[in-house]
Amino acid sequence: MKLPTKPKDDSPARGQFAAETYRQSFSVSFDYPVIFTRDVFNPANPLLADVLDRKREGRRHRAVVYVDNGLAGANPRLLHEIKEYFHAWPDKLELAGGPTVIPGGPAAKTDYELLRDAMWTLGNLHLDRQSFVIALGGGNMLDALGLAVSLVHRGLRMVRLPSTVLGQNDAGVGVKNGMDEHGQKNFIGSFSPPFAVVNDFNFLRTLKDEDWIGGIAEAFKVAIIKDAAFFDFLRQNAAALRQRQQPLMEELIRRCATIHLDHIREAGDPFEFGSARPLDFGHWAAHKIEILSSHRVGHGQAVAVGIALDSYYAMRKGLIGQGDFDRIIEAMTASGLPVWVDYLGLRNSGGELEILDGLKQFQEHLGGQLNVTLPDGIGGKVEVHQMNIDLLEDGIAVLGKLAGRTSTTSS
Ligand SMILES: NC(=O)c1ccc[n+]([C@@H]2O[C@H](COP(=O)([O-])OP(=O)(O)OC[C@H]3O[C@@H](n4cnc5c(N)ncnc54)[C@H](O)[C@@H]3O)[C@@H](O)[C@H]2O)c1
Ligand SMILES: [Zn+2]
Repeated sequence: MKLPTKPKDDSPARGQFAAETYRQSFSVSFDYPVIFTRDVFNPANPLLADVLDRKREGRRHRAVVYVDNGLAGANPRLLHEIKEYFHAWPDKLELAGGPTVIPGGPAAKTDYELLRDAMWTLGNLHLDRQSFVIALGGGNMLDALGLAVSLVHRGLRMVRLPSTVLGQNDAGVGVKNGMDEHGQKNFIGSFSPPFAVVNDFNFLRTLKDEDWIGGIAEAFKVAIIKDAAFFDFLRQNAAALRQRQQPLMEELIRRCATIHLDHIREAGDPFEFGSARPLDFGHWAAHKIEILSSHRVGHGQAVAVGIALDSYYAMRKGLIGQGDFDRIIEAMTASGLPVWVDYLGLRNSGGELEILDGLKQFQEHLGGQLNVTLPDGIGGKVEVHQMNIDLLEDGIAVLGKLAGRTSTTSS
């Protein structure tokens, strides 16, 4: 009997496919000022008009203004002052729309209506890519509105006026925006440097205590892994910062914001193509706490708890001493930050800590292998690529004890 013949395979042998490759390569440079000031809407203050006109384009600049509802509610005259400011600088400025009050707080970062409304409004007002959106608010509102602004015509000019401590020392000065979606922080978002950032310290006076204190966590974050002298400053002034001593907070913001700016500029990866995110010490747990708590725990407070957990871990790994760990806990506590929230001890039906899911999500967000930044001595840092679950369990038990709580709350 004749055996069936094998069909002829005429596909090329492995490695023999034709290809023509044209190598495309260019870089784009970004350049924006971050300005620290006061009384930005005083009609006699030329700063904001000059900022919009910084390219000396010789025309009136069309701008729409958006204001966070928390900021607007605490400053009843603010909308009027903004309008008056535009009237005072008619040669340089035209108020094309607003000031419009929009939701601030975590709701802003989960609300598609806000995103869509803002985009439609910008379209209805016929803003073009040379026009401006001026946004006054906290990190949540800036992140969400920033995403909308980066999408319309592929990006209008955005001038951020952060109005919280965390906005001024971190969220508002960088190159990222986003929304919390799909059960994850910043699941949707884009990299989009602003046209300018103006930090008016006077805005901070009306913050609620928890929002004043929350921003201190980002200062601990950068100090512990980058700047031992800044950590000493925070330790020495923790109680005074909590008591709202404004000049100390202004110094904290300047130092923390410039550390962030230096890092974005000098670390060689402003758009985070690699999988390391060295300024996100404490953030894998923080982001999960925010989601687990349905945002009842604010970003700053969640970061403080994440720092406490990863500092414990670093101590157990011999990266920092027991004295360093104690100083971190004492200083954060003295500044009013928590080192424990009950969400840290939540377990799923299988008995596993819910927080551990944060490690997977952190890795997936950045891509590649897991990269967790830990302190290496105070002021130094090291990247690790796996975390020992038993040590994290120990850390959660220790922090729970410190707070007089149990770590075995079940979900
Ligand atoms: N894009 C980034 O690079 C980056 C970096 C760090 C954090 N973030 C994000 O920032 C967010 C947290 O921002 P946040 O801490 O500013 O919180 P937030 O935006 O929720 O503001 C806190 C509260 O203060 C209110 N508020 C704002 N300014 C006020 C003022 N001057 N007076 C009175 N009330 C005022 C707001 O309405 C809100 O209720 C998180 O979503 C976090 O993920 C982003
Ligand atoms: Zn943060």
